[in-house]
Amino acid sequence: MISTSNTPNFPPAPLKIGNLVVDPPILQAPMAGFTNYAYRQIVRDFGGAGLQATEMVSAQGFMNIGPDEETKEDHPRLWGVMDEARPLAVQIWDNDPETLAQVGRRLAQDYRVSVVDINFGCPVKQVTQRAKSGSYLLKFPDRVGQIVQRVAEACAPTPVTAKIRLGCTREQITAFEVAQAVEEAGGAALTVHGRVAKEFFKGSADWETIAEIKPYLKKIPLIGNGDLDSAEKVVHAFKTYPVDGVMIARAALGKPWLFAQAAAALNGETVPPDLNLEQERQLLMKHWELLVQRFEEPKASVLMRKFACCYAQGRPNVREFRTKISKIQSGEDFYRVVEKYFPRETTTVNT
Ligand SMILES: Cc1cc2nc3c(=O)[nH]c(=O)nc-3n(C[C@H](O)[C@H](O)[C@H](O)COP(=O)(O)O)c2cc1C
Repeated sequence: MISTSNTPNFPPAPLKIGNLVVDPPILQAPMAGFTNYAYRQIVRDFGGAGLQATEMVSAQGFMNIGPDEETKEDHPRLWGVMDEARPLAVQIWDNDPETLAQVGRRLAQDYRVSVVDINFGCPVKQVTQRAKSGSYLLKFPDRVGQIVQRVAEACAPTPVTAKIRLGCTREQITAFEVAQAVEEAGGAALTVHGRVAKEFFKGSADWETIAEIKPYLKKIPLIGNGDLDSAEKVVHAFKTYPVDGVMIARAALGKPWLFAQAAAALNGETVPPDLNLEQERQLLMKHWELLVQRFEEPKASVLMRKFACCYAQGRPNVREFRTKISKIQSGEDFYRVVEKYFPRETTTVNT
């Protein structure tokens, strides 16, 4: 179901992506290098994200994966995808409709993912200039349409969605044409990050322009994305803009419980508090243990550095912590630094 009016959508109507009901209508964004199985599992445990997404996966790279289970699991960006809880979206990127369609079909049929999402927003040179993919394609709404059509045909009945930015530059906002092309081609939802590619992450997300896209979509939901970093901002987005869903990325890296807070706020329930230092210490250990299961040591600890830096945001001595954690080489190093900056709660017993 989508809200058909251009007025704000509060309390939000149920969000449907194809036949999938996304409840609550708060999505966990794809983030390369971050939203792997360990992170998704942690978000899942807190709850509140109606749909989670993998990191973006190169369709070309995927084509090189063999047909047997073991080799599939070797693709680092598909860690967990085969077996983890649904709903789950896998995001793919390329510029060739056929390659994307083949990969989409395998994800839909062999992996049985809930949603195949196509990346039309990545602004990184390697993807845009070198591979003529990601946000590069926003200059070519027809091409976007061809891609979505081929992938949607190949994946049916699994829904295919598109994630875009507003355009490549402020002078060339193409999101309106792209939105129409996605809908006409059989796309099942459109997510819009309210910046142009050239801006990367500069300035603030432009939710006014996201809202202007709504009249161009007659059948499929519009999901707004950009700068939502609190439960209040999520409620504000639904109260202010005609979006059917919202997506959160960066702010939930250090606060994976943000989805649960936002969901509670949307339902008019008491918003659960942020974790205290002791709870966060336990969370850091849990995250590290999940990484160790897959990557072993010392790779898991090295990989944990960037996640730990996110968790430390806003905590006492954050700079010092980051300097120390950025040098860890092993589980022992990790444990030592965490114990120091996220001290165990000591209970005083009165006698
Ligand atoms: C480290 C990082 C990696 C990202 N990787 C992806 C990606 O793989 N696919 C994608 O569509 N967007 C990616 N994004 C963009 C986010 O999904 C999101 O659109 C953007 O961060 C704006 O949302 P936010 O303000 O909530 O962070 C990435 C963003 C960051 C910070």
